[in-house]
Amino acid sequence: MEEQDHVYVPRLLTGDAMAELAALDRPLVVGREEPPTREEMLAGVAGAAAVVCTLTERVDAAVLDAAGPQLRVVANTAVGFDNVDVAAARERGVVVTNTPGVLDRATADLTMGLVLAVARRIAEGDRLLRRGTPWVWGPRMMVGLDLSAGATLGIVGFGRIGRAVARRARAFDLRVVATPTRAALDDDERAATEFLELPELLRRSDVVSLHCPLTPDTRHLVRAETLALVQPHALLVNTARGGVVDTDALVAALQEGRIGGAALDVFEDEPDVDPRLLELENVVLTPHLGSAAAATRSAMCRLAVANAAAVLAGRPAPTPVP
Ligand code: DGY
Repeated sequence: MEEQDHVYVPRLLTGDAMAELAALDRPLVVGREEPPTREEMLAGVAGAAAVVCTLTERVDAAVLDAAGPQLRVVANTAVGFDNVDVAAARERGVVVTNTPGVLDRATADLTMGLVLAVARRIAEGDRLLRRGTPWVWGPRMMVGLDLSAGATLGIVGFGRIGRAVARRARAFDLRVVATPTRAALDDDERAATEFLELPELLRRSDVVSLHCPLTPDTRHLVRAETLALVQPHALLVNTARGGVVDTDALVAALQEGRIGGAALDVFEDEPDVDPRLLELENVVLTPHLGSAAAATRSAMCRLAVANAAAVLAGRPAPTPVP
């Protein structure tokens, strides 16, 4: 790549964030709307002092080496950072940052939308009408799960997003249980939440919602053995990362009626969606929309730029990865 010490931005960010990047007074190498190819990524990063990337770019040792020793910061525009090899970055003295805090509410809103959609068969009803299937109201027609009649929502990962989901869920009269957390909770949250280890949470929940990061420990957390614990009417919602769920095991459980349904915003081989999921009426699918709300996306992009700018200026990054 022709530039040196530039800021490499493989994908276009929001307009306000792009303007802030332009004001950094550094050469910019900007990609396009779509993700770069691997070759474009390796070329774009060469000689960069900063990379402001998104979750679709894999930033591994090869990319870090292609960048060269002047690279100082990888600013990921996402709270999840499983696309970045943090250990490899640290070995090379490169700071890695993410965007926590600014997308909790938007992601929790989408989660509740998915909970409602799968429990009350909203997407299924929409498909029925669009297909022109004859229908008439009936006492037994398309009956779903009664969320507000004492249903239990099990939140796996009680961090910022999980807690934002819990706040919304309580407004729907859901009983909230969650996996144990190290987060500092206020008294009301503590009183309103029952903490259970994962197996018990899976046994007790009518809806299980995933809010943990994807790490070696959480990869395929939902798999044949754990799915065997859920109640046959239970629903699984995933707005975290596709890799937290073993898709083969989930598809088998859905096909065999061992789980009531699923709502998935994220996928193992994103952007590919397993075609078997598309065949199942009790599955709601959305294309990774968790943070796709205007002010949220702007805040994410601007925080990523602020992280890059701080490190380039020799200041601590506002939100380095933990
Ligand atoms: C994140 O920030 O990790 C989200 O998945 C983006 O939508």
